[in-house]
Amino acid sequence: MSAILPPAQRVWWRQPVDRVEILWIAIAFIWCLVMFFMMPYWHVYGKQNLSSETYRVTPEQFSKATQAMVDKYTVRTETDEKIPVVRPPADSDVFLIARLWSFWPILELEQGKTYRLHLTAMDYQHGFSLQPENINVQVVPGYEHVITVTPNRAGTYAIVCNEFCGIGHHKMVSKLYVK
Ligand code: CUA
Repeated sequence: MSAILPPAQRVWWRQPVDRVEILWIAIAFIWCLVMFFMMPYWHVYGKQNLSSETYRVTPEQFSKATQAMVDKYTVRTETDEKIPVVRPPADSDVFLIARLWSFWPILELEQGKTYRLHLTAMDYQHGFSLQPENINVQVVPGYEHVITVTPNRAGTYAIVCNEFCGIGHHKMVSKLYVK
């Protein structure tokens, strides 16, 4: 049979299922179940799929809250784009914007202190992947994802966008300081 000519038999799909095909369907199905149950498993034991609260938010509201934090707590700027590095007080609400193709601002948190980290996307879906911890949060426009975090190890962490968001996706990286 070729894709150019119509099939010789009009009903060409009604054939007995081969044993090998059943076997592969079973293997794929079992693997789907394994991956499905890994999600709650990693939440409890892997500390990677964090609990988050989600609220509706507009880009304007979120920008305003982020700008207020930046105006108050910026300690320096970094890179040629002069991205503010913000050191907010412990127990406060901290905001991070994801947009084409950057994160804004850069956060500097204190080890052992707790923060409420708010994430949103200004335009399309982005990802918040914290490396090397491998913490992953999907960041969706129109929603504010709030995660309560207590950084337990000092260092410079990388933030990577891990949802494909267009031509600059591979450049959408930032960092997070824990001191
Ligand atoms: Cu943002 Cu990929």
